[in-house]
Amino acid sequence: MATTPTLAKADDEDESRTAVAHAARIEHVSKSFGGPADAQLVLDDISLDVAPGEFVTLLGASGCGKSTLLNLVAGLDSPTAGSLTTAGRPALMFQEHALFPWLTAGKNIELALRLRGVTKAERRPEAERLLELVRLGGSYGKRVHELSGGMRQRVALARALAQDSDLLLMDEPFAALDAITRDVLHDELTRIWRETGLSVLFVTHNVREAVRLAERVVLLSSRPGRIAREWTIDIPQPRRVEDAAVAELSVEITEELRKEIRRHGQH
Ligand SMILES: Nc1ncnc2c1ncn2[C@@H]1O[C@H](COP(=O)(O)OP(=O)(O)O)[C@@H](O)[C@H]1O
Ligand SMILES: [Mg+2]
Repeated sequence: MATTPTLAKADDEDESRTAVAHAARIEHVSKSFGGPADAQLVLDDISLDVAPGEFVTLLGASGCGKSTLLNLVAGLDSPTAGSLTTAGRPALMFQEHALFPWLTAGKNIELALRLRGVTKAERRPEAERLLELVRLGGSYGKRVHELSGGMRQRVALARALAQDSDLLLMDEPFAALDAITRDVLHDELTRIWRETGLSVLFVTHNVREAVRLAERVVLLSSRPGRIAREWTIDIPQPRRVEDAAVAELSVEITEELRKEIRRHGQH
């Protein structure tokens, strides 16, 4: 899952060169819901690339179309216009952990490994390794109801990592957690991202979270969702939400976000 093997693969296999040059490529994507009479344009001409190993956050007000765009990248829905490509099948993680409550933490992860074709003998040690990676070593036999909200999201992250995708799509995965737990999970996600070389497209409405995590923040406008602005974040990692540089840039981005919301008469 590291960046280097992915790039090496591109050199070896000429045909896949374009496929792996971007972890995700979104080209002139528009999406409408409803029929011809009551069509609602939700996304309007979105173009965005995620480079291999890059961490991009997609930031915008509620209802601006973030989940719609992520679902399109995931292949769960089709665009009305434009095209989307990803290097392989992306892994997904949502606000709700979506773990199977009748399975243990370990078995939830093993299910993803089985779907990936990992042999029975290899599943258990690999599930244990992934639980270690999200710092839940020793929780293999725990049932979902025995885990806190933060721990459930750690298992959900381990299960997403079990898919061994090059691209992780995250839709407000920490939005339901308290601030302290969220902080800790930000640290873990940054560490795992740096260790694995994964590409991440992370959706949030939380400006500080966007700045805390990303190498690039892309701001979506509302009604319809368009790319309003983007920022490259070169504050060294690991960052803290309370770092002065993070706070300062968050103020600037919040101001832009407010302008977007005012422009569209929301809230
Ligand atoms: N399946 C759907 N059918 C009709 N409208 C939808 C559907 N999915 C989303 N929408 C509409 O698209 C807009 C954007 O929704 P969504 O992508 O969930 O926003 P966000 O994730 O940014 O909060 C909303 O107005 C929502 O009502
Ligand atoms: Mg959403």
